[in-house]
Amino acid sequence: MIRFHALSKVWPDGTQAVANVSLEIPRGQFCVVLGPSGAGKSTLLRAVNGLVKPTQGSVAINGVALSPASERALRRRVAMIHQHFNLTNRMSVAGNVLAGLLPVVPMTRALLGWFSPEHRAKACELVKNVGLQPTHLQRRAGDLSGGQQQRVGIARAFMLDPEVVLADEPVASLDPKISRDILMLIRNAARDRNATVLCSLHQIDLAREFGDRIVGMRDGRVVFDGTPAEFTDERVRALYHGAQWEDKPAHESALQSHTHTQPAMDPILA
Ligand SMILES: Nc1ncnc2c1ncn2[C@@H]1O[C@H](COP(=O)(O)OP(=O)(O)OP(=O)(O)O)[C@@H](O)[C@H]1O
Ligand SMILES: [Mg+2]
Repeated sequence: MIRFHALSKVWPDGTQAVANVSLEIPRGQFCVVLGPSGAGKSTLLRAVNGLVKPTQGSVAINGVALSPASERALRRRVAMIHQHFNLTNRMSVAGNVLAGLLPVVPMTRALLGWFSPEHRAKACELVKNVGLQPTHLQRRAGDLSGGQQQRVGIARAFMLDPEVVLADEPVASLDPKISRDILMLIRNAARDRNATVLCSLHQIDLAREFGDRIVGMRDGRVVFDGTPAEFTDERVRALYHGAQWEDKPAHESALQSHTHTQPAMDPILA
């Protein structure tokens, strides 16, 4: 479980990227974060692996608060999948997947390519699971297509069987078909391990399809928190363009939209 408690982040230039966000994301949930550019999605995600230090409030994973003392241990339980894949282009696919072990393997060993047979076998299995061929293992990562590179990014993220997966716009540069395939891979790999996923997206249709839950952010605040079914077109407009009712609790707006769409009662049954 990820727990944000009254989390705020103000950058040194005064930008309030996250403003008093409290959320609990249960273990195994696929939670999508939506919102306009600059809403604070990446800042929120990066607070979970310590890349962003909160100005106020806290983040805890399975009850353990992120702190300088706990950060190292927590980092091996939290993996990240990036928008631009963040692979080492001149390194092989196998080397990039094995780099997922860096939180537990000394850097010198990794640089010399000293990995155990078990770790190598696991990397091969993950590469297969994400739909790449064994022949890809020795290919230079930078020579792969974007979709293939993100498959490598997913295999790397799951090397340590993380409890939490942070995916920051993992399909931003991919075509619609590949985007669905990639999200399906992330969802299935997470389900197999009961891992929690916090995934920022800009595609409403994909958010509705893959999210167990959608959190909408605007100006650093959570302005929507509900199921894909509750995330109506009206709410989408409110999230991206603002609306006078955006601060109302989700259930209140749900009640309103429900009332509007309720068919008139049949007079014979009345
Ligand atoms: N390192 C930084 N220093 C100063 N300001 C920052 C920094 N990182 C982010 N910001 C600012 O914080 C706010 C939130 O940024 P963030 O990247 O979290 O938004 P986002 O919702 O991920 O946007 P996008 O959809 O474009 O990725 C923005 O105003 C941004 O300019
Ligand atoms: Mg972002």
